[in-house]
Amino acid sequence: MNTRSLKFDLKEYSGPDELDAEGRLLLREAEFAMASSHSPYSHFKVGAAVLLANGEIVKGSNQENAAYPSGLCAERVALFMAGSNYPGVAVKAIAVFVSSAIHDADGPAAPCGACRQVMAEYRSMSEQPMRILMGRKEAAIYEVNDIEALLPLMFTSKDLKKKQ
Ligand code: THU
Repeated sequence: MNTRSLKFDLKEYSGPDELDAEGRLLLREAEFAMASSHSPYSHFKVGAAVLLANGEIVKGSNQENAAYPSGLCAERVALFMAGSNYPGVAVKAIAVFVSSAIHDADGPAAPCGACRQVMAEYRSMSEQPMRILMGRKEAAIYEVNDIEALLPLMFTSKDLKKKQ
């Protein structure tokens, strides 16, 4: 039996000033994106900003629905918007920003499992890592270098490769 340890680095910044220019800009765009959050049910606002390899930034926010499962997270709104409007263009980075007047959470603004799976899909179509930044109002900022850190052993199209 072999046990393999999978490790990842979680960077923690005390504020945006510690980030590089790209990270600072993208996180600010994610924060701006929260303004369009439609979250009358959870009151949990999420904004996401996707930086593409062609330099475009595509934003999204969580869109809830009275029929709860019909809503969609900010990350997937932004990623599907990017995939629809810029097909085949790699995703370099995604920033997520969360804010809530009624919730008490802290720590990384961690994307949900479904959003991680969608990130994995776009990541698997590109040659470059997908930087992920997580921001929360008046809290530390967290970063991982690639989606594999948040979704180890991720399932991608490689797992569906047909026999020759
Ligand atoms: N939400 C996101 O937008 N992204 C995530 O990764 C986690 C959750 C949204 C969905 C819902 O509108 C609200 O946050 C509470 O779950």
